[in-house]
Amino acid sequence: MATNITWHDGLTRQERNQARGQKGYTIWFTGLSASGKSTVATALEQHLLHLGLAAYRLDGDNVRFGLNKDLGFSEKDRNENIRRIAEVAKLFADSSTVAITSFISPYRADRQLARELHTQAGQAGNDALEFIEVYVDIPIEVAEQRDPKGLYKKARAGEIKEFTGISAPYEAPLEAEITIRTHENTIEECVAQIVEYLKSKNLLPATSV
Ligand code: ADX
Repeated sequence: MATNITWHDGLTRQERNQARGQKGYTIWFTGLSASGKSTVATALEQHLLHLGLAAYRLDGDNVRFGLNKDLGFSEKDRNENIRRIAEVAKLFADSSTVAITSFISPYRADRQLARELHTQAGQAGNDALEFIEVYVDIPIEVAEQRDPKGLYKKARAGEIKEFTGISAPYEAPLEAEITIRTHENTIEECVAQIVEYLKSKNLLPATSV
């Protein structure tokens, strides 16, 4: 824990938003492995980029190769994984970018912490940042059937310990802003559902409405 550090006020978020012509916020996907988080998040990122918005996706598997390569899948490590991602997403959002995160983020308390980091007004008089939780809701049987990486099979065989949904918990959101179902709807329909929500909250450029 560092001591003797002080917060430096620089440009305000309002100045950055004005210069870039958009405001940042965070779209937080949560759901089981193989639920379709990354697929929908990628399609959404592409959609927003084509609308002219700066958007950037942080992805579970990728971030674990870099920033969080020191972390495993114990409860403590997952807590830290999500805490760091939440801080990074907040930085992206603060830089007037739409941050899109796709992590299992199985613990309600961790997602709540991520939400609070965004929604509590920050330093330098900055307003709260929008935090939109997207629950990718599919039955575990469907995820297990998909099993694109063969991980459920390994988890059932006991070759992977603490696997979400099999031998580690997944705490479904109680009040997500959006719930999508990739086993009932196409990727395009799921993206459209999220886009509709963003429109209803005035979070897309006026020309795209
Ligand atoms: S989280 O629980 O900390 O949010 P994260 O989204 O970063 O997880 O990583 C999940 C991905 O890691 C899965 O999609 C899967 O490919 C891989 N993985 C490897 N081991 C596990 C495990 N024990 N539980 C869940 N996912 C695992």
